[in-house]
Amino acid sequence: MRREDFGKGFVWGSAVSSLQTEGFIQEGGRGKSIWEHFYDEDPKRIQHTHGDPFRACGSYRLYPHDIAMLTGAGFGHYRFSLSWPRIMPSGSKYLNKRGLAYYNVMIDHMLARGITPWVTLYHWDLPQALQEKGGWQKRDIIHRLEEFAYVAGRYFGDRVKNWMVLNEPSVFTGAGYLLGIHAPGVRGLDPFLHAAHHAVLAQAAGARVLRETVPDAHIGTTFSWTHFEPLSQASYHRKAADRLDALINRYFLEPALGMGYPDEAARILHRLGHQLAPYDNRLMAFDFDFIGIQAYTRQIAAAAPWQPVIRSRIIPAEKRKVPLTAMQWEDHPEALGKTLLALHLRYPQLPPVYVTENGIGLEEVPGDLNDSRRIAYYSKAIESMHRAMREGANVQGYFAWSLLDNLEWAEGYKPKFGLVQVDFNSLERRPKQSWHWFREFLGGA
Ligand code: BGC
Repeated sequence: MRREDFGKGFVWGSAVSSLQTEGFIQEGGRGKSIWEHFYDEDPKRIQHTHGDPFRACGSYRLYPHDIAMLTGAGFGHYRFSLSWPRIMPSGSKYLNKRGLAYYNVMIDHMLARGITPWVTLYHWDLPQALQEKGGWQKRDIIHRLEEFAYVAGRYFGDRVKNWMVLNEPSVFTGAGYLLGIHAPGVRGLDPFLHAAHHAVLAQAAGARVLRETVPDAHIGTTFSWTHFEPLSQASYHRKAADRLDALINRYFLEPALGMGYPDEAARILHRLGHQLAPYDNRLMAFDFDFIGIQAYTRQIAAAAPWQPVIRSRIIPAEKRKVPLTAMQWEDHPEALGKTLLALHLRYPQLPPVYVTENGIGLEEVPGDLNDSRRIAYYSKAIESMHRAMREGANVQGYFAWSLLDNLEWAEGYKPKFGLVQVDFNSLERRPKQSWHWFREFLGGA
């Protein structure tokens, strides 16, 4: 597999997010996010922190080193997110000039070095002040996100053309409002259904604001996509896999494509007594320029008639005797190609796709830079992406998650996803073998 096989215009980049990498959360007038509050309430909610979980990679000050790592490997594009509490410490109205200045300088720095910025508006660090008003459970969050989109577009839109409204709404609503294992730690079907519906409305609303504010913007939003396979070809297992696919994947994409909620999900919503406000179906749709897909693994689904609502279950990877990653996910890089192909076959109207995240989390010890397992994962994943493209999938770019080892949310610093190792004491960066592999593949400096 060679870079040329993907064509000249194909975008190669790497990705990070604000809370996972920036650190220095007390500096520059940043407000508090839901993650600090989630941790302060119960420090056990974030594992493997080695002290301060939010120290992260210190990219708030060290970003020039990160950009040097990107250019060194031959990447031309950087996906990062804007910290809402740095820009609007109380979530609304008041703008923090130092927060805006930070991103202005950082964007100029990367442009000067030939790196194209790809900005995610919301990658899960909601200002705590907004959570206190109900967060994603209240419809008002849509207007707050519109306000944030307007500010971001106004201040950075002259230089940033590639935008993603949300990062993985299924994950931040599922983990944050259904299972309670991510901030804000809310648990329950009802809070989840509200949060999910508002996220689906907000992804389109934010995009509309960006379209008006940055007329030449290239606008997308990102979806986590789990490739579901049935336990066997028995029709009850196949239907179980379809139900999970509808609720976990399609639930968030189809409304954006103007298809409303998938029928299976709509039936469940109806049974639970959820009413959509008039016009919601129309408000959930937006003519996105691209869709970001983030695929890491596959799951095996089986029928479970005793399970309320979903009547399906996921057979955990650790019970299947398959190679596992540090996330306890199956090490199955081909899931990327399978996902891309399945999306292509199911949605003829799908806009161009960018793989906005893909990678592998491994347990690694400081100083050991030989991550041959990551190289094997990336080469197979990229090959499977190419196969899907040969079969017609319109994929225009790929971002490796992640440039740096960083804060893996509730899992802390145990799973390492970086191409570059970070020493969390000295904050020194050291390229791993996988970084060298990309440099070879991309023809870096
Ligand atoms: C998220 C990242 C996360 C990665 C690995 C995605 O769900 O967008 O923030 O670090 O997957 O778990």
